[in-house]
Amino acid sequence: MRFTRAIVRPPGATFAHGLSREPLGTPNLELALLQHQRYCDALLECGLALTRMPASDELADAPFVEDTALIARGRAITTRPGAPSRLGEVADVHDALVARGFEPDAIREPGTLDAGDVCEAGDIVFVGVSERTDEDGARQLATWLRAIGLAPRVVDVRGERSILHLKSGVSWLGDGRLLVIPELAGHAAFADFETVVVDASEAYAANAVRVNDRVLLAAGHPLAEAKLRDLGYLPLVLDMSEFAKLDGGLSCLSLRF
Ligand code: GLY
Repeated sequence: MRFTRAIVRPPGATFAHGLSREPLGTPNLELALLQHQRYCDALLECGLALTRMPASDELADAPFVEDTALIARGRAITTRPGAPSRLGEVADVHDALVARGFEPDAIREPGTLDAGDVCEAGDIVFVGVSERTDEDGARQLATWLRAIGLAPRVVDVRGERSILHLKSGVSWLGDGRLLVIPELAGHAAFADFETVVVDASEAYAANAVRVNDRVLLAAGHPLAEAKLRDLGYLPLVLDMSEFAKLDGGLSCLSLRF
């Protein structure tokens, strides 16, 4: 699948107050803005045109735009984020999708779903049940995916305390391959895929993003980078330090379609 566009949203004034599970420190807004700009430049380098939403000074986690919607097979669905403080992000993303010509469906109350729990892998789509996505949200999305001809597979990651979302621990590389953290390497849901396992010391690298001919990879993971190069991929390495402090990864920063 080739992407042609992405929706992105830069950090706003209150970004440092975003949700965080990890004691990695307070993000620096200026540096986050610089890293976000480089991320946007990387998407442009991959051939994508960008829709840049205005920053929100009220919604600290708004840059993690991926969690609020999913676009597949030319259709869009908005989500119902599992963190109450993030529910307000959805209306703006809905409007951005409508402005791009989509007529988004929606995950309905009481279900919750963060699209960071959704990993598209060709016709198969892994849907994580996590601390943010509940069984009802996963069920609603699975129904929507089946209706557009995709095959959902629900993966319960509630026992994997090291990851916030499914995609914190697994990424689709294309070519029948998944990049995974060691804890998910043997998961039955992935049995018919080749798994490329990141070293335990580089778990954050598992949130990579295949974008056309490149793979976006977080900086500071030389083992993962070497592994990807050996397999013939062209990693595009990006510094993500300020987003990692809020449990955000590369995939979280854009909605690609
Ligand atoms: N800080 C991103 C999230 O927790 O959803």
